[in-house]
Amino acid sequence: MTHNTQAFDHWIRTRFVELNSELESLYAKQDDRANVEGIGEHLKVQLETEGSELISCLLLEGNTDEGFDHAFDLLGNVGLYMAACRRHEITEPSRETTSPLVEASTLAMHIGASIGVTPRFATAHLTTHNRSQQGVYKRFTNLDAEKLFVDYNTKGILAYKRAADALLKIQPLGIDHPIAYDLLRVAKHALQDVIESNRILFQQLNADDFFYCVRPYYKPYRVGSQVYRGANAGDFAGINVIDMLLGLCAANEPGYSQMLVDKFLYMMPEDQSILRDCMRRTSFMDELLNMTHLSKQDWYQQNVGAFLEVCDLHGETAIQHHNELVTKYIALPSKEMAEQHMSKVTASGPPLPVLLNSLEKLRDRRSAAKRDDINTRFEDIKVLKASLEVR
Ligand code: HEM
Repeated sequence: MTHNTQAFDHWIRTRFVELNSELESLYAKQDDRANVEGIGEHLKVQLETEGSELISCLLLEGNTDEGFDHAFDLLGNVGLYMAACRRHEITEPSRETTSPLVEASTLAMHIGASIGVTPRFATAHLTTHNRSQQGVYKRFTNLDAEKLFVDYNTKGILAYKRAADALLKIQPLGIDHPIAYDLLRVAKHALQDVIESNRILFQQLNADDFFYCVRPYYKPYRVGSQVYRGANAGDFAGINVIDMLLGLCAANEPGYSQMLVDKFLYMMPEDQSILRDCMRRTSFMDELLNMTHLSKQDWYQQNVGAFLEVCDLHGETAIQHHNELVTKYIALPSKEMAEQHMSKVTASGPPLPVLLNSLEKLRDRRSAAKRDDINTRFEDIKVLKASLEVR
């Protein structure tokens, strides 16, 4: 790490957190917690100028070619700074046609393009690739709600990745391999971990604190002239690997493939290639549906039983995400929010009803619910269930 990179990283881990936290406590004192206009203006100026001075030095330094990890980490730091400026409305994409943070934009675009990711901070920067120092990892604020949210996003993502890795290992063996059963059990336990970690998050995270003090850092912001959607916990390949290998979602479905196309650059390059590879494969569901004539064999009974359990649990995580997390932390508080702030609710930009509708479709695909308007695997799951003997 160069001296300039280190100085910026130190600032992000210390002063940046103090300034954001102070601003949050000022906003929280108002009757309308969503308002940021005219509050803590001197703190906002400090945030913008201190960050921009450090970034100017980095820009002058040029491409120091210190490898992917350092470049990705630096992009994350620039992104956290830009996201905080957007949260405090130092920048506002609908007010501007190009980001006023010229140096930060330039550095972010330079790094993003050179390592093949979006030029903004992504979920991985705060979760799976967030280097801790003496037990503390990078965050926007020192608020408990933020730590809880990031901790449980990280746990959820890692557990989904464990499930995806196990399913990927079935590929070279074949779903009819006796040991595929062991891997299905690994996936099952990993998805049970997702459910457990979502349950704790749902129990412990305060809805108002999340909605007013955490979520606003995940809004879309402009880098150069383009607006980039906010980060969300789904920006890793594992979740879609599970969807597609199980066969609950398909890459040739318009709604689903649109989401995949949109998320590629928000993922780490290694995740991009895993997802690309997975999009070309057939699903276990399709393979098993072609083997129902073998249903008397032992491996079939074992593996199909375990496969259906994994599908069921994957559906349960999706139901939990939508019916509990999205409802409690986004949909309900949005209803209560003053009308003037409504256009700023979601991380990805579309109006809330549009977003909720697309998340609902994902939930129903993953849980193989019966729907007439979109393809789900409701009937196919029924066929596989019927092929199991009651033992
Ligand atoms: C307070 C907790 C959470 C809330 C309010 C929440 C909300 C949302 C929202 C609103 C989206 C849509 C994207 C957008 O607005 O841009 C989304 C996407 C997503 N979230 Fe969460 N989320 C939460 C926690 C989690 C956790 C812990 C996970 C587990 C890894 C997760 C996994 C996903 C995934 C995979 C997506 C992408 C869409 C999909 O494939 O389902 N979320 N989330």
